[in-house]
Amino acid sequence: MRLVGPALLIALGTLAACGGGGGGGQIQEGGQIYVGAPGETSYRDACARCHGANREGAIDAPALDAMRMASSGDESLRQLILFGKGRMPGFGGLSDQQVTDLISYIRS
Ligand code: HEC
Repeated sequence: MRLVGPALLIALGTLAACGGGGGGGQIQEGGQIYVGAPGETSYRDACARCHGANREGAIDAPALDAMRMASSGDESLRQLILFGKGRMPGFGGLSDQQVTDLISYIRS
């Protein structure tokens, strides 16, 4: 009988470890759960690898700062994100809301 206790605990522990699948809109960062603005989450998923984690730009892709974005209208940014331009690929898989959130994020 004395063995039943620990065995049961191990079984329960295993169940708990399998339970917590990632929730929507959350990104694991260094073991912490990070929940950003909706546009920021999409940015990190889709844009950061080229435009940089902090929108600072990279060798190829320009920085996306509020000053630069001020000269582009919402509609042209939407077209650019959905269909791409030059060496930038389009992101037609994003929903209207995701594109709207992204535009307000890169304008901020
Ligand atoms: C594969 C790399 C890559 C990815 C991923 C990428 N971009 Fe770009 N982006 C570029 C390049 C390269 C340019 C310059 C395009 C050109 O003029 O040829 C650009 C240009 C832009 C511009 C225009 C900047 C300006 O001043 O003209 C915006 C806005 C932009 N990207 C936003 C985004 C957003 C938002 C995402 C995520 C949905 C994204 N990009 C993802 C490579 C990328």
